[in-house]
Amino acid sequence: MTPIGKNSPIASIPGFLHILHSAFGILHFALCILHLPLPRFLDIHPSFNKAIAPMMESKANDLMERIVALCKRRGFIFQSSEIYGGINGFWDYGPLGAELKRNIKEAWWQTMTRWRDDVVGLEATIIMHPRIWEASGHATTFADPMTDCLLTKKRFRADQIDPQSGVAYHYAGARDLTKWSPLIEQYPFSERGAVTDFVNEYSTLNLRADSDSNLKSEKLEEQFQKEYHQEGRPTLKELFKARFDFDISKSDIGYSVLIAPGKHPEYARKIARQFYQQRGIAQPELLGERTENVENSTRYNPENGSLLTEPRQFNLMFKTYVGPVESAENLAWLRPETAQAIFAQFKSVLEVSRQKIPFGICQIGKAFRNEINPRNFTFRSREFEQMELEFFIRPDEAVEAICGRVAKPAGPGHPGRPQPDWGWQIWHQYWVEERLRFYENIGLPRASLVEYWQKPEELAHYARATVDILYRFPFSKRDASGQLTGEELEGIAARSDFDLSQHQRFSGKAMGVYDEELKAAWPKLAEAKKAELSSRYFEARLKYLSKTGEPPANAERLAREEAANLAKGNYVPHVIEPSAGVDRLALALLCNAYCEDQAPDEKGKLESRVVLRFHPRIAPVKVAVFPLLKNKPDLVSKALEVRDLLRSHMTVFYDEAGAIGRRYRRQDEAGTPFGVTIDFETLGEQGPELKDTVTLRDRDTMKQQRVKMSELLPILSEKIR
Ligand code: GAP
Repeated sequence: MTPIGKNSPIASIPGFLHILHSAFGILHFALCILHLPLPRFLDIHPSFNKAIAPMMESKANDLMERIVALCKRRGFIFQSSEIYGGINGFWDYGPLGAELKRNIKEAWWQTMTRWRDDVVGLEATIIMHPRIWEASGHATTFADPMTDCLLTKKRFRADQIDPQSGVAYHYAGARDLTKWSPLIEQYPFSERGAVTDFVNEYSTLNLRADSDSNLKSEKLEEQFQKEYHQEGRPTLKELFKARFDFDISKSDIGYSVLIAPGKHPEYARKIARQFYQQRGIAQPELLGERTENVENSTRYNPENGSLLTEPRQFNLMFKTYVGPVESAENLAWLRPETAQAIFAQFKSVLEVSRQKIPFGICQIGKAFRNEINPRNFTFRSREFEQMELEFFIRPDEAVEAICGRVAKPAGPGHPGRPQPDWGWQIWHQYWVEERLRFYENIGLPRASLVEYWQKPEELAHYARATVDILYRFPFSKRDASGQLTGEELEGIAARSDFDLSQHQRFSGKAMGVYDEELKAAWPKLAEAKKAELSSRYFEARLKYLSKTGEPPANAERLAREEAANLAKGNYVPHVIEPSAGVDRLALALLCNAYCEDQAPDEKGKLESRVVLRFHPRIAPVKVAVFPLLKNKPDLVSKALEVRDLLRSHMTVFYDEAGAIGRRYRRQDEAGTPFGVTIDFETLGEQGPELKDTVTLRDRDTMKQQRVKMSELLPILSEKIR
């Protein structure tokens, strides 16, 4: 091992950080030039010193701040209702943001339905029959535990508080010194302790109030009179009254503050005094202080150490009333997910689309959740958009009856084109892989994504498996090796037949399908196979019905009926649900695209630039068109001709204002991948061979090539496809 000498840069952490920073800078610059995926906030070497993690944290925050600032500056995202001070958890998308979101949704819709034969679309209402939310479980269980800071009233998700250790300072209450202070201050400072002792003793005797104590009280008064009292100063009785004349209901409340080990106790006292002041005790004197060592507690506000309220469940659905009367029967909810409308309309869509199982229904639309703690910019918002697919499949028993076997995943990776013998596991894997491909196709490198398999204890009771696709956001937590762990972009759940079964139970409408292939296959099965499949199906249905609270005899009867129906070709389809958020994806794409590098100005001098390296497929503007000079009518009219040539095929931005370098910079910040400049060559002034040619600039390489106007559209169309 090489010893670290005194002069080694690693010997001094700041020096080491500086070098590390420079190394990152050079690597970053090189990658920007090569247009390789940026590992800047994705990959941290495992041996990275843990002491650096806080620095990385603040760098990540800096980076997020710069991204947020860019979003506002360039009109991607604004705070909603900003002129009124904003509204927490709500965001507006400006001109570039609106285009970006539209492109994301367009890419998803194309991939999920238009380019497939087995998925159709739906656009349902946001407000639906309230029974839908009872059937789905949202009315009763869509809740998060919330807790409030007793001092600042800030609200937290109780399950998201980091455990803390330290010394807890507990207080029994506080006495108000408002009346006492002006009286005691009439005694010299040096006498105040002794005077207070007199008052306390006097109060103890008063509490007893027997004849002996009364006598002692009188004696104490005399002694006080002799030793301390002077003309104009309050008497012992007056002092006593002032000390104990306060509102006990306000002061008799326990409170605690947690401080880090080694922190001065005065900090805890300061916080506690603020707490009692807020409760109306103007000059609190803390009572009954005691301390306790606390390990890994989530009962204290991590920001100030104040005790939190007991966690209580809070339903996240926004309420509203349908019609003019605000009564319980008119209560409705803003949908917290788009999925339920798909289940509710399953039978109608099945009938009209002439689809057969397996097939899917997808929807894009707004969802609303009254999140306790909206945070990380748009990541956790109260109003957001979802892109959801419910892909309906046969139960494994039906697959086995028809195909003689149920194919399971042979290993990791994409299982290929769908096959009739696929069971739920392989269908689930198929959708995970399809979704990962989608993200890669719109520019999120595979290394920036994490495939997280929920542990059995994390799964919803009806789910058989759920994979979350995470993106390594700059604000994600880091693991022990310093690697960003990622935050959820999308969940892909194998939800069994729970959803349709629930709607069948709550609506009383049959949600089962009739499968001709199953009906035809069943009689051909050996008796033992029939019995085995029936029994498996019966057990699964019995489990579901028992979980829903159906009395045992009833559950058994219903499950038998359903198993008998399977033999006739009837079943409730199972579902695989890939559910993604548009806003989270927009944020991931912005984070991934953000890059700071160097570019030459008009005179060739390098200057730093901010560039959004969006994949051309989702870039808000595909091409910017610039006449070299705005005061040359021939250049302007040619540029407008180019704009009109391209406009009906892609988003074009025409810009004639300012120096050409400035115009490039503006488009780099907007993430526009291509720029077309119309110059004097285009007009044929430098020779006829260059007439009607333009320069096409690439945002990432900054290379410019001369192309014929007539070739522009095919070249660009190919690049943005
Ligand atoms: N139907 C299943 C469902 O709604 P979910 O995990 O609660 O599942 C799916 O939500 C996706 O919706 C998430 O992966 C995320 O992308 C997005 N999403 C959920 N809550 C969100 C919020 N408060 N703000 C922004 N996006 C959110």
